[in-house]
Amino acid sequence: MNTILPVTLNDDASKLILLDQTELPAIEKFLEIDTREDLYEAIKKLRVRGAPAIGVAAAYGLLVCMKKETYASIAEMQKDFSALKSYLASSRPTAVNLFWALNRMEVRFVSECEKKASSPESILKGLLEESLSIFTEDQAMSMAIGKHGLALFEKHMGIMTHCNAGGLATTGYGTALAPIYLGYELGYDFKVYSNESRPLLQGSRLTAYELNKAGIDVTILCDSMASLVMKQGKIDAVIVGADRIAANGDTANKIGTSGVAILAKEYGIPFYVAAPTSTFDLKTAIGDDIEIEVRDGEEVINGFGRRTGPEGVKVYNPAFDVTASKYITAIITERGIIFHPDRESVSNHLKNK
Ligand code: MRU
Repeated sequence: MNTILPVTLNDDASKLILLDQTELPAIEKFLEIDTREDLYEAIKKLRVRGAPAIGVAAAYGLLVCMKKETYASIAEMQKDFSALKSYLASSRPTAVNLFWALNRMEVRFVSECEKKASSPESILKGLLEESLSIFTEDQAMSMAIGKHGLALFEKHMGIMTHCNAGGLATTGYGTALAPIYLGYELGYDFKVYSNESRPLLQGSRLTAYELNKAGIDVTILCDSMASLVMKQGKIDAVIVGADRIAANGDTANKIGTSGVAILAKEYGIPFYVAAPTSTFDLKTAIGDDIEIEVRDGEEVINGFGRRTGPEGVKVYNPAFDVTASKYITAIITERGIIFHPDRESVSNHLKNK
């Protein structure tokens, strides 16, 4: 299956290439980025979005921005690395893969600096290798999640998803959509119901776009339709991605996800979360401790060029919510499946490589 690659590097690794997801589904436009300001803006404005894709973009972007500079000494390079890392880390607060990728690049940076014959060139070479590993591991992660996840689905299921956790949110088959793509390749005839995911409509602009393009049966729902459609018996399972998973399995994902999980429990429908182990944040004990990004209210009342609320009115626009682990039937990672996630099962899963 050919999914669209939302994040890549150009041939000489001097530019980060991003599919501008704010233009989808109307236009497939690619951006060439080589400045820290443009990278920050692209993450902040969701030109690149979805936790794993943000991580890959940050790693590649950090490399590209550093390659552009001329450093007189390694000390100067170290100073700039710290400044650049802090700047990029301040672009979005919730998706932990951003911090995970930046920290991984930092570990590599420090180890390259400590090598005897290190030079700006050798350090950049190390950063290139590390970012390429993050990219290829992301692709492998997607495939492994798809394989583990598919075991939970049967051939003719109706599946609900929320937001976009597909190819556009990773560099492979996605997380939540990976089992769907793999099943489709094996002849499963899933019917996917994609909640549009107000206010930025990742469910209709992105999920429906990529599934439709792949030939998979997908129906868009307004978020408010989830209960009715579940009651009508159209949904056999729900699967979503994650932006951060606390040590006890509580999961932050796109605003609206927790409501879908509570409804699924009420209707006796399994609710699955699919995410790589890099999305777990063991330093965060419980979901309530996860920082929730609050975005500009204009996205709610003046989205996509149409004013739908009075100017100057108060708007509250949290971008994520937290689903308590008691509503999650299982979390699927690249290592396998955590049934009934809680502190103990999460910890055991992450210990097992
Ligand atoms: O604000 P976004 O579009 O970055 O939010 C993305 C989501 O909530 C996804 O469901 C999540 O990152 C999982 S992506 C594989």
